[in-house]
Amino acid sequence: MSTLKFQSQSVATPYFIFALILFTGQILFGLVMGLQYVVGDFLAGIIPFNVARMVHTNLLIVWLLFGFMGAAYFLVPEESETELYSPKLAILLFWVFAVAATLTVLGYLLVPYSRLAEITGNEYFPTMGREFLEQPTITKIGIVIVCLGFLFNIGMTMLRGIGEASSKKAQVLEMWGFWLMTVAMVFITLFLTGAGILQIWLQRLPESGEALSFMETQDKLSIFYWALEATGGHIFDRLNNLYV
Ligand code: HEM
Repeated sequence: MSTLKFQSQSVATPYFIFALILFTGQILFGLVMGLQYVVGDFLAGIIPFNVARMVHTNLLIVWLLFGFMGAAYFLVPEESETELYSPKLAILLFWVFAVAATLTVLGYLLVPYSRLAEITGNEYFPTMGREFLEQPTITKIGIVIVCLGFLFNIGMTMLRGIGEASSKKAQVLEMWGFWLMTVAMVFITLFLTGAGILQIWLQRLPESGEALSFMETQDKLSIFYWALEATGGHIFDRLNNLYV
């Protein structure tokens, strides 16, 4: 028995399946690298560390995209109370993306990177070789097309669903929630930037040799952390603590 409210939500299935396949690949290449740390010549000459690293991180980016797209194709029709605008487009983009991702990974594994750059015309628009942006330019263009098509499909579905909007009370609550979150994020960004500038100054810049240690610097920055706390950054600063 199908538990789907709308038939077109089923386009999410191939997205989820492929995301899981890519995730498995990511873990495998992670394990290859982990082994190469301890057994230096593991798969030497077959999968060099730098290639495994590139495949590992690129698979990560792409399975996340597949996963999020699948989730959106599943959730948005249900929330908008209408069928997806174009299930055919969603399936077409799935295949475009899946084939491009597979070819790109095969390219990393089977073709020397400089040769890959050459045959994909990197010289015309050099974008390869930067971390997380290793994809050949044609793959990057493909990703942009897939993302735009995805946004179009999801956007049109939402617009079609607008006729059956949620209740007035829910809309007001959503609006307040949206602005609270937005304003909080603006303040978080400002305060963290301020804290970062001061931190660099205190830890590194004084030339007289009085640079402070990390912990002393953190004490001086506490005013910024209290400001974050006070401006609704309470939830977000839990996350930001990871980065500061
Ligand atoms: C068995 C599981 C995994 C293993 C053994 C593994 C191993 C590794 C290794 C060895 C590196 C390269 C580090 C270096 O350059 O020296 C790496 C990088 C990375 N891994 Fe994994 N990984 C695993 C799972 C994951 C998962 C599940 C994620 C994310 C969901 C992830 C995200 C990343 C990222 C973002 C980098 C790049 C880090 C950077 O640029 O600093 N890994 N991983």
